Amino acid sequence: MKKKVISVLLAGLMAMSLAGCGSSATTTSSAAAASSAAPAAAASTTAAAVSTAAAAAASTTAASTAAAASATGETEKVKTADGKTVTVGFSQVGAESDWRTANTASMKSTFSTKNGYNLIFDDAQQKQENQITAIRNFIQQEVDYIVLAPVTETGWDTVLKEAKDAGIPVIIVDRMVNVSDDSLYTAWVGSNFELEGQKATEWLNSFCTAKKIKATDIHIADMQGTIGASAQIGRTNGLNAAVKKYGWNMVAQETGEFTQAKGQEVMESWLKQYKNINVVYCENDNEAFGAYDAITAAGKKVGSDIANGDIMIMSFDSTNAGLTDVTKGVITLDTECNPLHGPRVQKIIDTLKSGGTPDKKAYVDEEMFAVDNTVPSVKVDGKDYTVTVVTKDVIAKRAY
Ligand code: AHR
Repeated sequence: MKKKVISVLLAGLMAMSLAGCGSSATTTSSAAAASSAAPAAAASTTAAAVSTAAAAAASTTAASTAAAASATGETEKVKTADGKTVTVGFSQVGAESDWRTANTASMKSTFSTKNGYNLIFDDAQQKQENQITAIRNFIQQEVDYIVLAPVTETGWDTVLKEAKDAGIPVIIVDRMVNVSDDSLYTAWVGSNFELEGQKATEWLNSFCTAKKIKATDIHIADMQGTIGASAQIGRTNGLNAAVKKYGWNMVAQETGEFTQAKGQEVMESWLKQYKNINVVYCENDNEAFGAYDAITAAGKKVGSDIANGDIMIMSFDSTNAGLTDVTKGVITLDTECNPLHGPRVQKIIDTLKSGGTPDKKAYVDEEMFAVDNTVPSVKVDGKDYTVTVVTKDVIAKRAY
């Protein structure tokens, strides 16, 4: 059986990889893979398809728990409830943020050998071309399911058609894909990013109303996420709509690429160009950390007292580090984006395995966290959302 042959090759390659690199690495990125693919290819003179699969093993997480388990025969012993080991190929965006790290941890702990899975994990380093290569490798390896956390929404039609033609269900997680034919993927689970933006901006309006700050005195800069990612599109749309609705002054709008380093760079540049920014709408926590560094380095104060010179930082994600910054008054409002998708994807797979049809699209429930109770709740489209004041206890009870 082809899968068995590939499994043996994976095991061999893994053994080679472990011998060369030490046994601690569990994840190999696509970029690193490109260099390690050469010896793998040289070692193999087998048929093209198998050879591609072998190279794929070196490029994806041949270094994954799955391959390691395969090398030891562990996967033969550990099965799911129905007695079968399930191979899942997961193409992850990268490791750009604390949120992403928590998301990867959730996927890895769910799709573990202990739980009866072979997880082939690929870190695309925020590059769509790496994700497309990873998906093609998963198809070559005849995985049971492909899970894709897409970096951007567009550009997926061709490769998802290849997966569909191969009969492999594709589950999209976190950000969305924008494809011409919805049957190219089986199900999606993730956040309502536009709602996140609406909740955050309704909070800002209520906060400023409570503090008697006029809309025309709000000079806001939007540090966007990766352009074209659902998380960016939704959060930016939410802000654009509120700027129009309330008459705030949008001073600047530029990507911080969801990273701390870029966030700092963009904020430094804005502070040199604009003297009136009093609210920074960071589209994730890591950008907020970078913005804070830049603001304090420029000798300015971060906080919620924008009528008296503070620059307010708003953020998204509500990671542990983000909420810790809320308790310090560094971030005034942090709107949650929940990364714990592993069990949600597992539920979709369980439904498919039992012959059921999972929801095509499923949004997760998310919270809001603020430095104080000036705004106890916000209303969006007639629905109330509670705003939780962050304390150490609140942080201690959270999983990420
Ligand atoms: O798609 C989710 C977003 O991607 C998170 O807000 C961000 O931190 C991550 O990088």
